[in-house]
Amino acid sequence: MKLNEFKPLELASTAHHLRASKLQGASELLTHDYALWQGKIEGLLKLLPNIPLFDLVVSSPPYNIGKEYEIPQTLEKYLQWQEQIIDELVPRLKPGGSLCWQVGTYVDDNQIWPLDIEFAPIFKRHGLQLRNRIVWHFGHGLHAQKRFSGRYEVVLWYTKTQSSKDKYTFNLDIVRVPAKYPGKKHFKGPNQGEFSGNPLGKNPEDVWNIPNVKGNHVEKTDHPCQFPVGLIERLVLSLTNPGDLVFDPFAGVASAGVAAALHARRFWGCELNSGYAKTGHKRLQETLDGTIRYRPHNKPVYDHTQSSLSRAPEGYKTEGRE
Ligand SMILES: C[S@@+](CC[C@H](N)C(=O)[O-])C[C@H]1O[C@@H](n2cnc3c(N)ncnc32)[C@H](O)[C@@H]1O
Repeated sequence: MKLNEFKPLELASTAHHLRASKLQGASELLTHDYALWQGKIEGLLKLLPNIPLFDLVVSSPPYNIGKEYEIPQTLEKYLQWQEQIIDELVPRLKPGGSLCWQVGTYVDDNQIWPLDIEFAPIFKRHGLQLRNRIVWHFGHGLHAQKRFSGRYEVVLWYTKTQSSKDKYTFNLDIVRVPAKYPGKKHFKGPNQGEFSGNPLGKNPEDVWNIPNVKGNHVEKTDHPCQFPVGLIERLVLSLTNPGDLVFDPFAGVASAGVAAALHARRFWGCELNSGYAKTGHKRLQETLDGTIRYRPHNKPVYDHTQSSLSRAPEGYKTEGRE
């Protein structure tokens, strides 16, 4: 899609909070442009019609690392549980649609299992085609003592296609980023002397440096590991078109919904925890009202060397160490 092809759509301006506990079902969800369904995804998938519904499924499932919303289980059992959910999601993804699974690393007894490696065979069994393994790099996290500190997670981007002839949505121009050398020119050939780069900028590549939501990040809520909206914004813009339906089965505080609503895509999410669902619903409504605060995907990362705190105190020896 070219930038000027965007046409405003008539989408609803109200977000709905539906509750499994009140027996609010899929028939109600199906009537809304923006809704969070509070309950287990396993339950919702039993209620939803088994037909292609979603243009983009994007989620970060629990990683089985002992967060407050997880019941720890063996990696094998965890993957079996996830596979049952993926088995139900894939038939509901439209042909040519995209599925993005954002995962980190499972750690046990100081050994690491990068979860994208574990998930890849599950998606392959469904015949999905892997388009990118995006490395999401961020600057803050725990300081490890017995291995190098982890500073990236992965987004596996699959399309529901079978051959290279099958079409899928990929809007590159709208997510281009500033080129390193926009002033570079062709130095020979028929275009000699003309600028050689794309005036819209360069492909953002497959390593994305987007700050994670910690401390005083403008998007911080009480959720311990929410998506930065910018991470999903870039996926929503490039992998869907206005009016498309985005679905997050583990929606947390609806960061994917914020990204979708910001750009006139519809959104349904499912979240088990009532507090997160409530916050998610509020954020969705704030987005529709135009009052949400968020950090866009193309905002440059803060240059920490500009801070006075980045100057090493006297006596610190950090340069030239072998
Ligand atoms: C990694 S977090 C997702 C955070 C989300 N990406 C955000 O930006 O807020 C995983 C979420 O899945 C929820 N969850 C765990 N088990 C669930 C289930 N069976 N059905 C639906 N949600 C579940 C947790 O409460 C948690 O909020």
